Amino acid sequence: AVPPPSLPDPFALVSDQLRPLDELLSDLVGSEHPVLTRVAQQFFDLSGKRFRSTLVLLAAMAANGGRPGNAQQQQLAEITEMIHAASLLHDDVIDMTDTRRGAKSAHRIYGNKVAVLAGDFLLARASVLLSRLNDTRVVELQATAIEEMVQGEVMQLKASPQELLQMDHYVNKTYRKTAALMSLACQASAKLGGCEPKVEAALQAYGRHLGIAYQVVDDLLDFTGPSDTLGTTLGLPALSHLKQGLATAPTLFAADEFPEVGAMVQRRFGEEGDVAAVSRLVAASDGLPRTRELATNHAAQAAAALGVLPPSAARDALLRLCFDVLNRKA
Ligand code: FPP
Ligand code: MG
Ligand code: MG
Repeated sequence: AVPPPSLPDPFALVSDQLRPLDELLSDLVGSEHPVLTRVAQQFFDLSGKRFRSTLVLLAAMAANGGRPGNAQQQQLAEITEMIHAASLLHDDVIDMTDTRRGAKSAHRIYGNKVAVLAGDFLLARASVLLSRLNDTRVVELQATAIEEMVQGEVMQLKASPQELLQMDHYVNKTYRKTAALMSLACQASAKLGGCEPKVEAALQAYGRHLGIAYQVVDDLLDFTGPSDTLGTTLGLPALSHLKQGLATAPTLFAADEFPEVGAMVQRRFGEEGDVAAVSRLVAASDGLPRTRELATNHAAQAAAALGVLPPSAARDALLRLCFDVLNRKA
């Protein structure tokens, strides 16, 4: 789906509300020990577009009839990015990934102990900043997001053989690990703007469906896109989930067509040749187009949720993100 050209660039619309990174860092992550600051610094230097901050700021504006968010909402945007960064530091330890955003991952440079502690530190800092917003409902929403992310990771790690094949389990896990933070941060942003419950609910639903679409596309790119590591130069897909023993949407759809895929899913691709065989069978199945359709359905639900908001450039930018998540290439 191609976005209508009239929709504004989401990142440009809030760029002047995003604090410069160096300012952010000295304020937010100045720690007692230089190694924590260094890990955090390196992390934020690579943080690119700050997608989650942008989302929170756009939600604030859209809830506010297009006017920029207040100071609390801007603070929430930064807190949300810090929670995300903490989760990635831990994720790379759990997944044992060597790279993040094209650079060596923190645990590969500093070791697991420092990487985990740096994630904890960011989470602690985020909690301090959150408490200063003086709104216990907002603290509850963000704390719930963290809880969901941990539960999503555990669901992924500890799924039973039966659960491994269930599409419901996959979507539920996907909501928790990726979409919950977007959803609950959008809702918290609305709450900090003091808007009506129906606007809050709409932004929560928007974040949920956008987040699910985002992760489903990520799972699709794992099969189709160039990988973050050596594969990039060779133009090969990463297949990182298969290599980690994880079945995502393309594989689950392929299992509908080819029973032997289901058997491999349940043994977490543990036998010699399983990864290559599944990747071949996924390509031979309707798994990739059906995965795209799943992502498109969620992006459409995100777009529909925006219907209750008053028209504004910010609302249009949120709509634009529904197209952009589907079109992203990496
Ligand atoms: C990336 O997914 C990881 C997540 C979306 C969430 C990770 C959550 C935790 C590790 C729980 C702990 C949470 C906190 C807040 C400390 P991926 O591994 O599928 O994708 P990627 O590695 O390719 O980005
Ligand atoms: Mg990972
Ligand atoms: Mg992971």
